[in-house]
Amino acid sequence: SAAEKGGYASFMLKEIAEQPKAIADTLLGRIDGSGTLSLDEVRIPAEVLREVDKVVVVACGTAFHAGLIAKYAIEHWTRVPCEVELASEFRYRDPILDQRSLVVAISQSGETMDTLMALRHAREQGARVLAICNTNGSTIPRESDAVLYTHAGPEVAVASTKAFLTQLVACYLVALYLGQVRGTKYGDEIRDVVRDLSRISGAVEQVLETMTPVRELARSLAHKNTVLFLGRHVGHPVALEGALKLKELAYMHAEGFAAGELKHGPIALIEEDLPVVVVVPSPRGRSVLHDKIVSNIQEIRARGARTIVIAEEGDEAVAPYADHLVRVPATPTLLQPLVATVPLQVFACELATARGNEVDQPRNLAKSVTVE
Ligand code: G6P
Repeated sequence: SAAEKGGYASFMLKEIAEQPKAIADTLLGRIDGSGTLSLDEVRIPAEVLREVDKVVVVACGTAFHAGLIAKYAIEHWTRVPCEVELASEFRYRDPILDQRSLVVAISQSGETMDTLMALRHAREQGARVLAICNTNGSTIPRESDAVLYTHAGPEVAVASTKAFLTQLVACYLVALYLGQVRGTKYGDEIRDVVRDLSRISGAVEQVLETMTPVRELARSLAHKNTVLFLGRHVGHPVALEGALKLKELAYMHAEGFAAGELKHGPIALIEEDLPVVVVVPSPRGRSVLHDKIVSNIQEIRARGARTIVIAEEGDEAVAPYADHLVRVPATPTLLQPLVATVPLQVFACELATARGNEVDQPRNLAKSVTVE
């Protein structure tokens, strides 16, 4: 009903707007005043976490994209190798697991059959399983060794928004906590990022306040057949997620690519007036990646693409090549997906609405897939 949607036209719009609160709630009580993480709920003893020699993330759909981003964070802050795998592929290829493997199963609903079968397989091999889940007492956390709940609140729209951002927060918490417990050379950086994370919901709020031009742009592209998304580093999974949202909601052909792969194939798709969304990494930090993506934008624009550029505030180098520039607040490199995903959610939701689609209940999709 209209009342349940809290005045929004759809649950999806309501859930997009709830993201700052969902993030704050997911951080609540997990960071103390001195910037130390306390995740007592992760009942896997510190001695065991210190012995972990491999992390494997399994998930489906949007949760899988959270997992792809988790890999960057986990390997960087913990120096432990991390693999990410679609839950539906995992157990069928006889994965190498033992007591020193930590499997992280990410699921909003906690009922996705593919993810459940993957975690059962992992436990049979002796691995420890940590669930990241949004639904209290659901099957996946009940069958795991430990659970870190996301506190996004109930998510009604089929396409995941607030649950995804809180999955990212939970992944960062796991990566930072593992780093903290194991003690790496990144101790100072971990403390700084924990502080930045505690302020990130304000940055997401800021993005939400500047979405009017993104909505107008989305409406103007409603007649298009194809939209491409490019990103690199953690911007690559963001591009995949932007494309998935557009497929799910607008029923458009949308594809996400690693920007570095452009010349190995995708550039052949570029034609006059094709909309291409590019997620630009911060010019601070890994500035080499930033400069490379700026030349990618020049390359596709020279071939006629209409460039829609998501870039950090103050990044002036990209501005001349952006037909449409969407600014997001500066964040540490690894945290950028929390702000960069939001315009892509708004874009897909608005574009789908302009095409007359029902955004909360896209055709052929289910919120939770409980069959294999
Ligand atoms: C379904 C939904 C997706 C979701 C995926 C994983 O396919 O339509 O939006 O990302 O399941 O769901 P889970 O509940 O495991 O996160």
